[in-house]
Amino acid sequence: MGLLENKARARLFYKYLSRVYDRVNPFIWNEEMRAEALSLLSFPEDATVLDVGCGTGFGTAGLLEHVDHVYALDQSPHQLEKAYAKFGKQGPVSFHLGDAERLPFASNTFDVVWSSGSIEYWPRPVRTLREFRRVLVPGGQVLVVGPNNPNNTVVRKLANAIMLFYDAEEADRMFDAAGFEDVDHTLMGPSYDPDIAITTVGRAPE
Ligand SMILES: C[S@@+](CC[C@H](N)C(=O)[O-])C[C@H]1O[C@@H](n2cnc3c(N)ncnc32)[C@H](O)[C@@H]1O
Repeated sequence: MGLLENKARARLFYKYLSRVYDRVNPFIWNEEMRAEALSLLSFPEDATVLDVGCGTGFGTAGLLEHVDHVYALDQSPHQLEKAYAKFGKQGPVSFHLGDAERLPFASNTFDVVWSSGSIEYWPRPVRTLREFRRVLVPGGQVLVVGPNNPNNTVVRKLANAIMLFYDAEEADRMFDAAGFEDVDHTLMGPSYDPDIAITTVGRAPE
């Protein structure tokens, strides 16, 4: 398990990264990629939408182009502070400080659960994906943007020692074990490496 697949360490890491996150992020996860990921979802009218690991709200802002209100959760108070500064605490986003693995929501609540760039920090990804399934309505959609998986073998080995990286086969195994159906993957990335990241969509069983 990678060094940052540990909630306390990830929280500490984001205490510092939050200071520069919005300046660094566009080099690896940008508006074009976000639009492509959003296009993989269909938003029912008045959809209830949850953004898990919302960070400073980059994914949240994209979701707000499709719905009027988003529930957003992150375990880093420092990341959330940056998000509050953008959206306000009582605006179109209901923020929650909490753990992706223990979502503070009733079962069968959301039409869509979105999570971008967070899975690589979860110590138990399958358990967390099961938690997503719990809060989704039957037939509800999940979308998870995975990490940018380095092509270079040495860099990938190093990266794996830090956090989770996975391919389509591993994603199939995780989403299947979590009970999702109609699982599908799309590779995307910034222009300098357009296939570097895997995004997975699936549905909770009807
Ligand atoms: C790379 S940032 C992604 C932020 C945002 N989703 C985006 O698209 O820019 C990863 C975020 O996941 C959060 N995170 C990591 N592990 C988490 C957990 N177990 N529960 C909730 N949030 C978590 C981190 O605090 C961080 O803000």
